[in-house]
Amino acid sequence: MEGKNALITGAARGIGAGVAALFARQGARVYISDVDADAGAKAIADTDGDIRFMEMDVSDENSVKQVVDQILDESQKIDILVNNAGITNDKLLLRMTTEDWSRVLSINLTGTFLVTKAVMRGMIKQRFGRIVNIASVVGLIGNAGQANYAASKAGIIGFTKSCAKELAGRNITVNAIAPGFIETRMTEGLPEEVKQEYLKVIPLGRFGQVDDVAHLALFLASDQSSYITGQVFCVDGGMVM
Ligand code: NAI
Repeated sequence: MEGKNALITGAARGIGAGVAALFARQGARVYISDVDADAGAKAIADTDGDIRFMEMDVSDENSVKQVVDQILDESQKIDILVNNAGITNDKLLLRMTTEDWSRVLSINLTGTFLVTKAVMRGMIKQRFGRIVNIASVVGLIGNAGQANYAASKAGIIGFTKSCAKELAGRNITVNAIAPGFIETRMTEGLPEEVKQEYLKVIPLGRFGQVDDVAHLALFLASDQSSYITGQVFCVDGGMVM
């Protein structure tokens, strides 16, 4: 990863922070971005390597443009983009308001679109790019109480394949990772009985860790994955097969 510049969204904590730390250890210059500036400052203090923080809201087109321009001014190019920022707002459909629906879609799906659009122009010019989108197994199989989240993640999968087809001719690969149950802030608040139910359907019999996702992201961002594009990879202990 020496000489490569990477932008990772929603990377102040959780999976994004794990991906950022691994990329930095492998020698990349890493820009972590997040809406949470305090957590972002803590993340860079805790991480070794060439790592910088940018405050960015992926659902806000101006914020995205400003940050991408600032990175390009400072470092001239972005080789790798990991669209990781995401939220949940779980409710049964009967109780889900339009606001509950729109907020999840605008961060998870529109955010992925906005950041990809802002970054891809430079990738096209340099005829190199690696884009890794963080989807979810829920985007493949659905989940009661997560219609908004499932739709956003299924949308990311369709978006990934379309971008892969559009950008392949420019030597830009676009792939998605669909994590299962990974231990982060997103999952820690779930009731114990729900966690136990999940465990029953995970053949490997344990929850995933941030690094389980980060190592696949590293491979998909590396030169070694140059013949792989438009794919969705589950990192889920065998939950979906
Ligand atoms: P997390 O909640 O620990 O971290 C998400 C980060 O995104 C936070 O730092 C948050 O401040 C940031 N964020 C939220 N809204 C943002 C916005 N508008 N702009 C920029 N940043 C924003 O969550 P986790 O678990 O690390 O999730 C990362 C990604 O992995 C998400 O896309 C999530 O949907 C996905 N995922 C997570 C799974 C899990 O089991 N933890 C399973 C499947 C997918």
